[in-house]
Amino acid sequence: MAKDVAGYMRSKFKFSDSIKLIKNIKTTGTVTPSSKFLIRNLIAPIDFAAARYIVELGPGNGCVTRSLLRHMHPDCVLICLELDNEFVVKLSALGDSRLRVYNACATSIPQILEELQVDCVDYIVSSLPLALIDDEVVHDILVQAKANLRLGGRFLQYQYSLANYADMKPVFSSVKLDFTIRNLPPAFVYECVK
Ligand SMILES: C[S@@+](CC[C@H](N)C(=O)[O-])C[C@H]1O[C@@H](n2cnc3c(N)ncnc32)[C@H](O)[C@@H]1O
Repeated sequence: MAKDVAGYMRSKFKFSDSIKLIKNIKTTGTVTPSSKFLIRNLIAPIDFAAARYIVELGPGNGCVTRSLLRHMHPDCVLICLELDNEFVVKLSALGDSRLRVYNACATSIPQILEELQVDCVDYIVSSLPLALIDDEVVHDILVQAKANLRLGGRFLQYQYSLANYADMKPVFSSVKLDFTIRNLPPAFVYECVK
């Protein structure tokens, strides 16, 4: 198992991404991009044949974004909200016509969906470092996420601890937990159903 992680880090790891993550640790909450194992686990609940709108919160270097784009239906739109402008520039350079990238806080979901004239979305996939964000802002993000999901839609989030489990439980109708050991650090994955 440890060998898998080491092999993955050698083959896919971009040193420049890590330097940036370390420099901005207060907003990124990590020093390494998510592993392919964590990404696979995070997006596993998505029905890609049916999904037409997906929101991604905190896409950062785009490792989750690229995986979503690889699986998405040609008519599916991916709406990314990222605070860091350098990441926004890199994500926009992916040049996929299904991608809409906004230099915006995750709390702006309602305004951005209104601008795009989208009523509700199928999935919200979040890499936000919730444990580092103020409690009221986390609550605001979770409530808005739920309000903007279609009935039965999912909010998918990973976290290195269970720090925000208690915040998700009362907001969503169910919260399922999984765990990925093959990530640095290992991470919990939440599947929250509206
Ligand atoms: C841990 S990085 C995630 C990078 C990548 N998705 C991954 O899984 O490796 C978290 C990202 O969330 C962004 N972020 C933090 N707070 C945010 C907020 N309130 N709204 C939007 N993006 C935010 C940071 O700039 C950072 O790029």
